[in-house]
Amino acid sequence: ARTQVGIIGAGPAGLLLSYLLHAEGVDAVVLESRSRDYVEKRVRAGVCEHPTVELLRDIGVGTRMDAEGLPHHGFSLRFDGEDHRIALSELTGRTITVYGQQEIVKDLIAAHEAKGYPVEFEVSDVELHELDTENPHVTYRDVDGVARQLDCDVIAGCDGFHGVSRPTVPAERVKFFNREYPFAWLGVLARTPPSHEELIYTHHERGFALHSMRSPEITRLYLQVPFDEKIDEWSDDRIWSELSARLATSGEFALREGPILDKGITPMRSFVAEPMQYGRLFLAGDAAHIVPPTGAKGMNLAIADVRVLSRALVELLQHKRSELAQSYSDTCLKRVWRAEHFSWYMTSMLHVDPAADDFQRRLQLSQLRYTAASTAAATSLAENYVGLPFE
Ligand code: FAD
Ligand code: DHB
Repeated sequence: ARTQVGIIGAGPAGLLLSYLLHAEGVDAVVLESRSRDYVEKRVRAGVCEHPTVELLRDIGVGTRMDAEGLPHHGFSLRFDGEDHRIALSELTGRTITVYGQQEIVKDLIAAHEAKGYPVEFEVSDVELHELDTENPHVTYRDVDGVARQLDCDVIAGCDGFHGVSRPTVPAERVKFFNREYPFAWLGVLARTPPSHEELIYTHHERGFALHSMRSPEITRLYLQVPFDEKIDEWSDDRIWSELSARLATSGEFALREGPILDKGITPMRSFVAEPMQYGRLFLAGDAAHIVPPTGAKGMNLAIADVRVLSRALVELLQHKRSELAQSYSDTCLKRVWRAEHFSWYMTSMLHVDPAADDFQRRLQLSQLRYTAASTAAATSLAENYVGLPFE
């Protein structure tokens, strides 16, 4: 078979890219190794930046997000047992929307289905070939195990951090930047109403904790744990008692408990591959870069990448103009590095580093206090958090 753009991966990056390309008359096929059910149920990010929300709305896939997503005008920084509100709307004129990543994925898959745009699930043995020519191709096995070849003009590697696309780039053509953290996040989804109207990012001597939500009935919570922690060490009782200890305040706050629907541990790292292109392969989203989740930037960055990529590919394939394709990586990396810095800064400010000495602990507390007390510092945090405008 033949298509203009072969897209590897049906996460937010791959699905949105496909949708944007088809809307401009460019042909694309999405190949995904997991099942539709699996990708629609995978619990991940929850915070949509203002630019992400506007983009989804503008292209007509925001109806359910507008109906069910929760607009937030601020969040709390909690430390020393007290809340310090970061008033996003007052500081920036913008809001964020709490709407689960898997809901966006569901909406995009439904939009593909409605328009007949092809997404192949449960493919295997995906390999990329002849990336440094104008006729790259993908070989794979379809859902029935039949060997297939997809000839393309361009391949988009949207297959996440553990995908096949990035490792296909010859080592001498790419530089990696990497930072690992000595902790991970244990995330739980619980059937209980949120205990507070807004998100709470908590710094506590026992470690970081985050109170978030998915709906008026469903709470999402995270705990900092050691990087090599095993989920078996965390019974539901232990999770609730640790959350209560870290989220305790001197004011009125009671953590609402309920049945745990999902729990898992996510390692934390910062990672960038430069450039995000090799020949006719373009990398987007987690395939090209990872941020620690503290700034809620991972999914939003993936969406920002494919907005740039879709425009570049429309120019390249419809109008035979290659300037935007050539500048794709440089354009994206500016936003990527801003998010890398912001995510690293939020992570460092809020977590307990087991290797930190007293001097570092005092600096960290000073940073928290300054952020809470200074309009200038809070505005800087808020501006990054709601999402800087697209270029
Ligand atoms: P992905 O969503 O990873 O999509 C890649 C797709 O490619 C997947 O569907 C995968 O199955 C598929 N794929 C992989 N290999 C192949 C292959 N060989 N062939 C075909 N298909 C392939 N961000 C936050 O902001 N907050 C969070 O709380 C948060 N939690 C996270 C928890 C976990 C466990 C992970 C892994 C990430 C989390 N993130 C979070 C980050 C955020 O979810 C990602 O940044 C976002 O999913 C990136 O989208 P993407 O489309 O680039 O990649
Ligand atoms: C959520 C995840 C994040 O990484 C974050 O910073 C805020 C909220 C969430 O899953 O709700």
